[in-house]
Amino acid sequence: MDAIRVRGGKPLTGRVRVSGAKNAALPILCSTLLSDGESRLRNVPKLRDMVTTAALLKFLGRPVDMDAPIFTVGAATNVKPEAPYELVKQMRASVLVLGPLVARYGRAKVSLPGGCAIGARPIDQHLKGLEAMGCKIEVEKGYVICEAPAGGRLIGAEIRFDMPTVTGTENVLMAATLAKGRTTLVNCAKEPEIEELARVLNKMGARVDGAGTEVIHVQGVEPGALEPFDHAIMPDRIEAGTYMCAAAAVEGGDVIVEGARFEDLEALIRTMQSAGVLIDAADGGIRVRRQGPLRCVDFSTEPHPGFPTDMQAQLLAILCLAEGECHISETIFENRFMHVPELVRMGANITLKGHTAHLKGVKQLYGASVMATDLRASASLVIAGLMADDETEVRRVYHIDRGYEMIEQKFQGLGADVARVRGAEA
Ligand code: EPZ
Repeated sequence: MDAIRVRGGKPLTGRVRVSGAKNAALPILCSTLLSDGESRLRNVPKLRDMVTTAALLKFLGRPVDMDAPIFTVGAATNVKPEAPYELVKQMRASVLVLGPLVARYGRAKVSLPGGCAIGARPIDQHLKGLEAMGCKIEVEKGYVICEAPAGGRLIGAEIRFDMPTVTGTENVLMAATLAKGRTTLVNCAKEPEIEELARVLNKMGARVDGAGTEVIHVQGVEPGALEPFDHAIMPDRIEAGTYMCAAAAVEGGDVIVEGARFEDLEALIRTMQSAGVLIDAADGGIRVRRQGPLRCVDFSTEPHPGFPTDMQAQLLAILCLAEGECHISETIFENRFMHVPELVRMGANITLKGHTAHLKGVKQLYGASVMATDLRASASLVIAGLMADDETEVRRVYHIDRGYEMIEQKFQGLGADVARVRGAEA
């Protein structure tokens, strides 16, 4: 397995360009199943999750070309609406083919995604929404089998989610575009990636209104009526936030994160500014400067527009050397502090009590061999390595390759002493 070796102690300076958003590209790729023609996606990040999604679409019967600069999903010939465990286990977001398949083809058989390191991550809300639209749902031998009502077409309904769920909202929204009549989704997740998906669905000829707010209205169109699309994926706000934290990690940091959108990251920016980081909108991106010590600040992860759970580990990392102490609460996932024991091994002073980390700033972090456990925890360990005066080796970086395109090259471009170690000990 590869590792990333970081020699820290130097501030980052310069410019880094954000790639396309992983968590927008995934649902948008699945939405190609709603139309029968060839769709074209630009600015798709070259990540492991995209390779997995391409393999899944091919398995379903759609020709995919992801090597050209434009990611194309070819016309449907004979789609088999079944997604196997071998592919779904690699990436939970594969469950996003469920809604489009049952809406377009009247049935779908998709492996249950199972949990992951950060939590159980059930899909009961996805199924609740599809059931409300008339799906008969059976779960057998680890697979979810969905059958549309007689005639093969879903029926518009009013659906209230028990909690804001990003992929739950996306899955049910995609299904509703082809349902008969009107669907109202209530208590929706409001992430920018959901607005981006709705933009694409409307480009295809769907009639979606209210994406990005708690209530989304959909007027269904006939299956087969949606057209393919050509779309450039929005910038990845979590990748942007990760480089913003890295820029603030060491005194003297001064980085422009090109392509980052201020409006996508307001909660993170407010929290970083209250910790003493200087953040301004700059030409075509966001400028982050670190002058002087940081202050510990309390924060709690919330559904968008609150503080994003996907940025909790990265901000926690840079607060390890801040002045004072603070409490950091993770309210979205039940096990998203796995970076904490690794940071403590590097000298951080953090104690966990349930969903809250109590952090006391220390004077120094020490390089160490640490273990990546999930995507964002891995990024926080690389950031901590930038803050230690000696060498840190982050192992099992296959996690990081799921969400960060060309991570070592991007960090090297900012002056960081970061390199990939091929075939390191696991
Ligand atoms: C999406 O995951 C993102 N993934 C995650 O990003 C992100 O952390 C998460 O949203 C929260 O913002 C993609 O978009 C591909 P949820 P998702 O459904 O949709 C509970 C990353 O690092 N829940 O919004 O799976 C769930 O357990 C990844 O890029 C149910 O109980 O998250 C969690 O506690 C990690 N039943 C809460 O809702 C359901 O049916 C929010 O989860 C669905 C969710």
